[in-house]
Amino acid sequence: MKNKQVLNLTGKYVAETYARFPIALVRGKGTRVWDGDGKVYLDFVSGLAVMSLGHSHPAVVRAIQRQAEKLTHVSNLYHIPPQSELARELCRHSFADRAFFCNSGAEANEAAIKLARRYGKEWLGGKYEILSTLNSFHGRTLATLTATGQEKVRAGYDPLPAGFRQVPYNDLKAMEAAIDERTVAILVEPIQGEGGVVLPSDDYLRGLRELCDRRDLLLMFDEVQVGMGRTGKLFAYENFAVEPDVMTLAKALGGGLPVGAMLAKEKVARSFVPGTHASTFGGNPLVCVAALAVLKTLTQGGALKNCVKMGRILFAGLQTLKDRFSFIREVRGKGLILGMELEFEGSKVVNECLKRGLLINCTAHKVLRFLPPLTIQRRDIERGLAILEDVLARQ
Ligand SMILES: Cc1ncc(COP(=O)(O)O)c(C=O)c1O
Repeated sequence: MKNKQVLNLTGKYVAETYARFPIALVRGKGTRVWDGDGKVYLDFVSGLAVMSLGHSHPAVVRAIQRQAEKLTHVSNLYHIPPQSELARELCRHSFADRAFFCNSGAEANEAAIKLARRYGKEWLGGKYEILSTLNSFHGRTLATLTATGQEKVRAGYDPLPAGFRQVPYNDLKAMEAAIDERTVAILVEPIQGEGGVVLPSDDYLRGLRELCDRRDLLLMFDEVQVGMGRTGKLFAYENFAVEPDVMTLAKALGGGLPVGAMLAKEKVARSFVPGTHASTFGGNPLVCVAALAVLKTLTQGGALKNCVKMGRILFAGLQTLKDRFSFIREVRGKGLILGMELEFEGSKVVNECLKRGLLINCTAHKVLRFLPPLTIQRRDIERGLAILEDVLARQ
């Protein structure tokens, strides 16, 4: 279908929850996607940090094809071999002892919140409150939008569930002051993604860990956006030498298939017992073989090393642009989640880049966000930077 036909259909029949760019994407390979009119784009969005191995990665495609011919879905009433294997592999590579599978980042956080509440009831005299941070993003379900520290995400959804409060990010004192007799857990993104690619200060995550240990709270990391290799380590927390009690994953986990996971230490995970939480599709065979292929490629191939190397090249290139254009306030990030903060709204730059065949995204109004596949090569980074430079030169 041509772009125009798709745009007409979307306009007429799809709920209007998204402000979409006027193109329809129909095909992808590696770092490139094609629209309905045959135009090619360099993809520095990667489905918003989903396609970490690039589009149509052969290992993921093969895994999905083979499994689709064998068994696509069965209920969690039965054991599911790829799900058990995926849980083992995620635990083997992380701090965790057990995994719960669902279909999205919001659901993974919802599972973490529910688990924390059950843990609070069982072991901490009924504590239930979750502290999170301003500017955070944790999802769009009622509980996760209430945990999210952005007013615009909550607007129109009153009354919101009780038991959530936010304090400024990177402020240990504010977090400590906010803890009271109801608090059961702290939920944070190790690096804020939607909030504008905001890094933790040197002692922040370690400070949160110590605080949680001292005050008997759970530390829960939302790695939905920054997990699965995006920062150059398999999990973002590895960059900061701090382990959480609970971690959530989604986005890049399934190589493009919808799968989320909530990982937890045994002492917490055991608060989920049969009947306390569930998901029909959660951890079905198809999504789990895709996730296993992603995990294997990330841990056994060179994608993480490449992410670090290419991240440095892209960072340096963006920094050079900062030196040239005084309206660039800051370049920041880790691995291949990089942000460029402008003095003005970034949407015009994004639109111009799209016209010239480069997909980038803008978040927190003024922050251009770069999330290319971890497998990207220097040549494509240079191409992307050249387009961006050209567009910035006309601002
Ligand atoms: C850190 C973080 N948590 C949770 C979510 C929600 O994930 P999903 O859209 O898969 O529900 C997102 C999505 O952008 C995210 O960036």
